[in-house]
Amino acid sequence: MFDGNQTLLKELVRNLVDNALNYTPSTPERPGLITVRVLADPFGHVLLLQVEDNGPGIAEADRELVFEPFYRVLGNEADGSGLGLPIVREIANQHRAQVKLEDAHPGKHPPGALFTVRFESETAA
Ligand SMILES: Nc1ncnc2c1ncn2[C@@H]1O[C@H](COP(=O)(O)OP(=O)(O)O)[C@@H](O)[C@H]1O
Ligand SMILES: [Mg+2]
Repeated sequence: MFDGNQTLLKELVRNLVDNALNYTPSTPERPGLITVRVLADPFGHVLLLQVEDNGPGIAEADRELVFEPFYRVLGNEADGSGLGLPIVREIANQHRAQVKLEDAHPGKHPPGALFTVRFESETAA
């Protein structure tokens, strides 16, 4: 069974999707592509929510920092206050879920960002 706060989970998804939209360039030659997935294991114990894009990705050195309040990667032109990902992490914590950030396409340029939120069932047998 997965229980969650609808309002907060909507906010979590919105922040990840907003970021993907804001930070993924899109040109006719190289269209921006954003994928949102929900994956459940066949036994219903684990549920993954993924938001993936084909933008610049986030350098290793920034991957923890971007979850700190007000931190924004230098050089980004989009408006923002640096609170989206801290909110995502806080909402995940409240649901005992983990947030993982990695390259969507390792070794490729640009690598893209892949955010995975992992929820575990409370009643896993
Ligand atoms: N999908 C993404 N691709 C590239 N960079 C990202 C992405 N999501 C977040 N970032 C980087 O992480 C920083 C922090 O994100 P966030 O906490 O949502 O704050 P904000 O969007 O207000 O700057 C952003 O400023 C941006 O530099
Ligand atoms: Mg944001």
